Order: sequence, then C-alpha cells, then structure tokens
Amino acid sequence: MALVTSKELMEAAAKEPVYAVGAFNAVNLETAQAIFTAAEEARSPLIIQFTQTSLGYTEVEGWVSVTEELIGSILSLARRASVPVAVHLDHGRSEEVAARFMDLGFSSVMIDGSLDEKGKAPRSAEENLAVTKAVVEKAHAKGISVEGEIGLLGQVGEEIPITPELEEKLSDPTKTAKLLDETAGPGYPGWPAGLTRPDEAAQFVEQTGLDLLAVGIGTKHGVYKGKPFIAHGLLQLLREALPVPLVMHGGTGVPDKDVTQGVQEGIRKINIDTQMRIAFYSAINRVMGEMNALHNLADITGETRKYDIRKVLAPAREAVKEQVINRMKVFGCAGRAF
Ligand code: 13P
Repeated sequence: MALVTSKELMEAAAKEPVYAVGAFNAVNLETAQAIFTAAEEARSPLIIQFTQTSLGYTEVEGWVSVTEELIGSILSLARRASVPVAVHLDHGRSEEVAARFMDLGFSSVMIDGSLDEKGKAPRSAEENLAVTKAVVEKAHAKGISVEGEIGLLGQVGEEIPITPELEEKLSDPTKTAKLLDETAGPGYPGWPAGLTRPDEAAQFVEQTGLDLLAVGIGTKHGVYKGKPFIAHGLLQLLREALPVPLVMHGGTGVPDKDVTQGVQEGIRKINIDTQMRIAFYSAINRVMGEMNALHNLADITGETRKYDIRKVLAPAREAVKEQVINRMKVFGCAGRAF
C-alpha cells in the first residue's frame, strides 16, 4: 500500500460505520517500529507523526543530526507497509518547518498557528490565519494535506477550568448554543478559553482552505490531573458547523466511552503520545528492576554481558506496540485497512 494523505484516510473513516484514525508520535526507530508493527498486526490505517519539538532530540548541537535519517526510515517503512499510512508533521509552528517536512516527503502537515514559532507566546487570530493560509497554499500545490488549529488547545499541565454549571451546559448542544449566543462579541466574554467556537472555526476553515481541524473540546496534552471532561454538546455543534474532519489532540487518558461517543460526533483523527511514553518508561523501569535484582548492575566488575541495551529497548518497543493496538481497537480503525 502506498503512502497516502491524511485527507484520504479521513474520507475512508467517514464512511459508515465511522471510525477515527489513530495518529501516533514516533521519536526514534524503536517507537516507529512499534507503531508500524501495531498497524500491521491490527490491520489498521495509520497516521505516524513526528512533532517539531523532537528536532531538539534528533539535532543535538555539536552532534550529528539524524533527522533526515529517521524521517527517511519512517517514510521507507510507510511505503513498505501493507496498510495505508500517512506520514504527518505534528505541531509545525512555522512556514519554514512545514516546508522542510513537505520537501522531505511527508504526505500531511499540521500548522499550529495558535502559538509563535518557539511555541511559547500565543499568536493573534490574524497571524494564525496568515501562516495557516500560506502553508495550505504550498501544501495543496504538492497534494499534501493540512491540519490547522484555532485557539489554544490544552497545553501540558493545564486543565481547562470547567465548573459543574459549565459542564452541564457544554454537554448539551441546545444549552451550548445558548452559551455561544450569550458570549458572542469582541473577546467572547464568559466563553471558556481553550474551547473552540463553531462560528469562529467555520470562518477559519473557509478562509484557510485547510483539510482537518484540531478542536478544543476539553482535552489536553499529557496526563490529566482530574477526571477529563469532554464537551460533547460543543462537539456536536462543531461537527454541524464545519465541513472538515475534526481532530482530538491529547488523546491519552480520555475515557474509552468518550472516545467512542466522540467518534460518533465527528472525531476522525486522535493523537496519542503520552500513553506510549508511559509504556516505554514503565517497561524500562520493570526490566531494569529485574536485571538489577538478578545481577547487581552497580557491580561493574562483574559479568559484562549483563549490560545489554537491547534487552531493555526490545520490551519497551513491545510495550508501545501493545498500547497502540489497544487504542486502534477503541478508535474503531483496527481491521479497517483498505
Ligand atoms: P497526548 O500526549 O496527551 O497523548 O497528546 C498527543 C498529542 O495531542 C500530540 O499532538
């Protein structure tokens, strides 16, 4: 199966019975292998993504850069895969970075114009519009799909503060519509920051021509401190207002029932990163504990063969694969390779 665009995957996922395609972040060869193996075993379409911040890992100052080599391996595996695969840039923050990954052969890019190039300060709505439009123009000329983002989705460590009263309103489309009316006007006073407004998003999609939109519906990147709240009422209004597939960021920790409901409400792509990181760490922690108990690793005068990095990395890779398969089953994309 050839490398495909995420738009092609989204079109297939929108056919009944609908599903969402899992988008999994690879940071090195082991995680990439785990993700591809999971897709093959689960017979699932796949979005494998590389996030801009990982450049800080593949391009260590004063050391050799391995970005092109890692990307080359991921693209080669995608072309060899027997399931359809889109290779996607996650949270690209500038035209230059998006262009670099398009030139490397990615079939899909995200331009996250909500934050500045360093990912620190928010961009204005006008700046987001300008950078997203520029990337869409360049990408579409090359047949590449574009995901955009409007407003600030939940950042690591930040939960959207939702009161029980707001929770009730945002769970019901009629009550959400009333709240949208009440909070219309400059700066949207009283509208919870981090949640996407359908009116604003529809204009953004029309003006940019993007293919997929990441929406703020209560999810956030990283581990949730409390119980995650998904604004299903709002999600239903977003689906009605928007002609493009919707993306859920911060998929780790979202309860399965909210995922299933979200898919019925129009979510077609779900991003997962932290869940794989936790699996990788936990496996290493477990194996290191077992090895230490067996060998006393602090005693470096002992048996040399006990220090075998492969014995640590292989179970970590396997653990990531298991988590990816687990998510593919919940997202409904397992068994849907075409
Ligand atoms: P998690 O790390 O919460 O799974 O989110 C991943 C993500 O949204 C990447 O863009």
